[in-house]
Amino acid sequence: MLHGARLDSAPRVQHWARRLTCSARRAAMAKPFTNSIPHVAIFINDHPYKYFVGSMDAFQAIVKRRTIRKYKQKDIPWDNVVTCLHAGRFAPVAGNVFNMRFIIVKAEAQRKAIAEACMEQYWMQDAPIHIVVVSETLKMERYYGQKGARVYTLHNCAAAAENILLAATALGLGSAWVGAFDEEKIKDICNLPGMVDVQMIITLGYADEHPPVPLKRSIEDICNFGGWHGRVEYPKTGINMWSPYVARIVDETKKAVKKGAKKAHQKAREMVKGKGS
Ligand SMILES: Cc1cc2nc3c(=O)[nH]c(=O)nc-3n(C[C@H](O)[C@H](O)[C@H](O)COP(=O)(O)O)c2cc1C
Repeated sequence: MLHGARLDSAPRVQHWARRLTCSARRAAMAKPFTNSIPHVAIFINDHPYKYFVGSMDAFQAIVKRRTIRKYKQKDIPWDNVVTCLHAGRFAPVAGNVFNMRFIIVKAEAQRKAIAEACMEQYWMQDAPIHIVVVSETLKMERYYGQKGARVYTLHNCAAAAENILLAATALGLGSAWVGAFDEEKIKDICNLPGMVDVQMIITLGYADEHPPVPLKRSIEDICNFGGWHGRVEYPKTGINMWSPYVARIVDETKKAVKKGAKKAHQKAREMVKGKGS
């Protein structure tokens, strides 16, 4: 009985508290999940959190993510929203000073108003969830001055936003990052205090479109080595650029040529032998 517990019973109380935590963990792990994506429970500060695993590797999610501007009229499981928010929480932040808030918007009227305040991007209102990412910019300024306010705050929010988009992709959700909005209107719609800044709005939902991959710059175009004009010669290809893709193609071609040459050599020998006999 915890009531009136004697001093020497403290370890016993701790023991039961531990057992309870263990059973909560077991329950969290055994609980069937609402969607088909496999989850595991991991423990942070002794709280069980559900995380998706094995749904997609990181690089796949990076490549598969597309800006989705057409959504199905279908709610997304709350578990998935929470997982995306956790992904945002785990983003790298300057000095580990988390100066953001995620405002989760579900109400249809509010989503409609947000879409309107985003320069009339009405496609947004069909997404069942909006996440308004706001920063407490002053908090960062206190630590890092103007650089904190002007630069790190944006970096923090952008890192969190990208994590959210990637988690959404891995969960099979569509998402979009919206940066065009009237800040004062968004603040009004979401009842935000004056000291916060709205950084971006993320839409989440089931995609009702499969947009093609937009043109992305080639790796040779966007990389330099050691300095602005620096190019490296990929040792195997001798081509004046760096590309694992090209290297792979060259390797495969070399192997095919070697195989072909071996076959031709064998055939020639057989022909010579045939003539000799
Ligand atoms: C800072 C930023 C602001 C953006 N603002 C908008 C926006 O207001 N409306 C929109 O439809 N897409 C917006 N986007 C999405 C881009 O248009 C999109 O990422 C880009 O066209 C590349 O397509 P992808 O995301 O499918 O690779 C924004 C993206 C970023 C990073």
